[in-house]
Amino acid sequence: MTISAVILAAGEGSRMRSTTAKVLHRVGGKTLLAHVVNTVKALTDNIYVVYSPKRPEVREQLADATISWVAQEKQLGTAHAVAQALPHIDDKHRVLVLYADVPLISKTTLQRLLDTPENSIAWLTAIVDQPDGLGRIIRDNNHQAIAICEETDLTPAQKTIKEINTGISLLPAKQLKTWMNDIGNDNKQNEYYITDMFALAVKNNVAIKTIATEDVIEIQGVNDKVQLNAIERAYQYRQAKALMAKGVTLMDGNRFDLRGELHCGCDVCVDVNVIIEGKVTIGNNVTIGANVYLRDVTIADNVTISHNTIIEEADIEPNCTVGPFARIRPGSKLQARSKIGNFVEIKKSTIGAGSKVNHLSYIGDTTMGQHVNIGAGTITCNYDGVAKHQTHIDDNVSIGANNSLVAPITIGKAAVTGAGSTICKAAPQDQLTVARARQISVKKRPRTTTKRQDKH
Ligand code: UD1
Ligand code: CA
Repeated sequence: MTISAVILAAGEGSRMRSTTAKVLHRVGGKTLLAHVVNTVKALTDNIYVVYSPKRPEVREQLADATISWVAQEKQLGTAHAVAQALPHIDDKHRVLVLYADVPLISKTTLQRLLDTPENSIAWLTAIVDQPDGLGRIIRDNNHQAIAICEETDLTPAQKTIKEINTGISLLPAKQLKTWMNDIGNDNKQNEYYITDMFALAVKNNVAIKTIATEDVIEIQGVNDKVQLNAIERAYQYRQAKALMAKGVTLMDGNRFDLRGELHCGCDVCVDVNVIIEGKVTIGNNVTIGANVYLRDVTIADNVTISHNTIIEEADIEPNCTVGPFARIRPGSKLQARSKIGNFVEIKKSTIGAGSKVNHLSYIGDTTMGQHVNIGAGTITCNYDGVAKHQTHIDDNVSIGANNSLVAPITIGKAAVTGAGSTICKAAPQDQLTVARARQISVKKRPRTTTKRQDKH
């Protein structure tokens, strides 16, 4: 039987106390909605997302041509939300109902629902220690599940029930369409609850298969920031464990954050409080120090990134060392064996093989050849207030400490510049260029002893 998935994403999410739509909050760098969509994509091509037209950004942020977007004008409840998608779905399909605020549901668990006999109703439940706020599964004396009751409508005795509704269910489209008209909003919240389908099925003598999952993180909903954080930490630890299983050494699996995709070679060691975003590839035998931030970076073999370094959209070739306290900005490439030291900022520049920028420098819009040494405190003056200009430093150049290289400028091969120089014109190859006021020493003026007379 063909599956159509309906993902509910139109709720207000007021408990998040945020101007951002709830389903656009992120876990591991990915929105709650994107997590659910990605998982469901592995099971079906028929995906309907119910969204609120008041929140067009929910639709805009997930520019995915394979999704059919269904507007829910007023948020009248989960049954009303599902009902908006039903006219688009063939009577012969089974409808998989998912909530966009339950982001970590796994393909394996959903598959257990799909494996139930065709035409049957399958409902995912869980036993949890703290069921507060969740819909409970009501069972009769024969332990048959007969209904789901929302927290607000529970009797005090029912509040002790620990079996909860995850919100995830699988129902034949035909029955959903027929029974939808029988769902009312006579409850404390005056909403149309999809969970009422449960009792309706029982009333119509249709058996419901409840499937329980043990993994409480998979079915954890996000209604407030505390739950968002609980899921984020669980998700991060899960990613950390997967990396460790592949041989990555993490100094602390609980102090590691991956908000994207990370591919690691062999013998990669990551110290505490490292944040990785976007797409990052790390080669073999690489050490990443504490408090490092990497975004969209490629790091080759035998590289050391020392503590407190930030690297974004850059390419680090083999045997480089970077940091501590270095900042490598987008568009930069550090060629093999180059070395970037502390308090150095590199922007949109290529640092040639074996070249060194060891201390307190700014290198921007620069192409640097091989075996160049940049003295401490050197600045490429790349911006004249209107436009950015290029600096070219040829192979084997040695720039003295505290130089200002005023771009556009070229420093010729094997040139040397004197400390404290402000280089405004091309420095020729193989010569020493010094551009600073000549030092003079003169006789000291004698100290005056007469007092200054005040004028009236
Ligand atoms: C819901 C279930 C509850 C279950 C819990 C599990 C109902 C009535 N209750 O409660 O039994 O234990 O999830 O996490 O289903 N939404 C819409 N349109 C609406 C209302 C909601 O699209 O009109 C969406 C929300 O964006 C959300 C989902 O449906 O993604 C669930 O709504 P929410 O209000 O969070 O329900 P809960 O109170 O968590
Ligand atoms: Ca919820």
